[in-house]
Amino acid sequence: MTSGKRSIIFTEKDPIASKRHEKLLSAERLKATGRLASEIAHELNTPLGGVLMYSHLLLDDLPADDPRRENVVKINKLVHRCKIIVQGLLDFAHEDTSELKPVQINRILLNVIGFLEDHILLRSIAVRTYLDPALPMVTGDENKLEQVFINLIINAAQSMDGTGTLTLRTEVALGTDGVLVECSDTGSGIDDKHIGRIFEPFFTTKGPGKGTGLGLSICHGIVEHHGGTMTVESSKEQGSTFMISLPVAKQGSDCGWPISDRESNIADPES
Ligand SMILES: Nc1ncnc2c1ncn2[C@@H]1O[C@H](COP(=O)(O)OP(=O)(O)O)[C@@H](O)[C@H]1O
Ligand SMILES: [Mg+2]
Repeated sequence: MTSGKRSIIFTEKDPIASKRHEKLLSAERLKATGRLASEIAHELNTPLGGVLMYSHLLLDDLPADDPRRENVVKINKLVHRCKIIVQGLLDFAHEDTSELKPVQINRILLNVIGFLEDHILLRSIAVRTYLDPALPMVTGDENKLEQVFINLIINAAQSMDGTGTLTLRTEVALGTDGVLVECSDTGSGIDDKHIGRIFEPFFTTKGPGKGTGLGLSICHGIVEHHGGTMTVESSKEQGSTFMISLPVAKQGSDCGWPISDRESNIADPES
């Protein structure tokens, strides 16, 4: 019997072991993709910086009424976009040097909801928050964690196509030294054939120009950089739940401010 056949028997007979095997393969694939992403990002970062600098110099040299300015401004903007993508790849590959300090997850979530409230995608989506008032601080980078929650909320809103319920929940992870953050939607759910790939960079099911496929891979990188984990559960047509666990800050103290469970409906008063 060849080893290939043995692995097929093992797959059929032991579904739990096979799932674990799949998870390991997928973790290995993510690691390898991370290394590749990091190499590409490093190679691109320096020349892109050069293009950006020279286009700025060119812009400085051109008189204010020069018609060529318009094109140089376009070059500038596009290079900026490339820099953001490259930064995303570096984040995914954990190549970030941000400083981690104790942060309040509940406050970050409320901030994010606050500034997404007016986003057209969220206008008729009910947002429910169940934030544990006794949530300890976690060690983190506030901006990066904001980025994670924004990505998850936008994805959730896109999956609901305008209407549905978004639920954000925080709680202390019982029996572990961590904090749990859940982001659930009542959207389209994720196909079984896609769910193993959604954290890969550039994997997207959205049409051209609609998705870059970088959001979740960046989130994954950021959460790992924080020493946390990110998982997903989804069922077709019923919605998805993304779960993030983050380690409690060493000097872990209570967040010290009461937030009662609340329900809010972010609806456009104009509509
Ligand atoms: N909340 C969600 N509901 C359904 N599918 C999702 C959700 N979040 C992510 N996905 C799936 O994962 C893919 C990758 O997401 P992401 O990395 O954010 O890239 P993008 O949003 O640019 O497609 C999406 O294209 C979509 O298929
Ligand atoms: Mg996205």
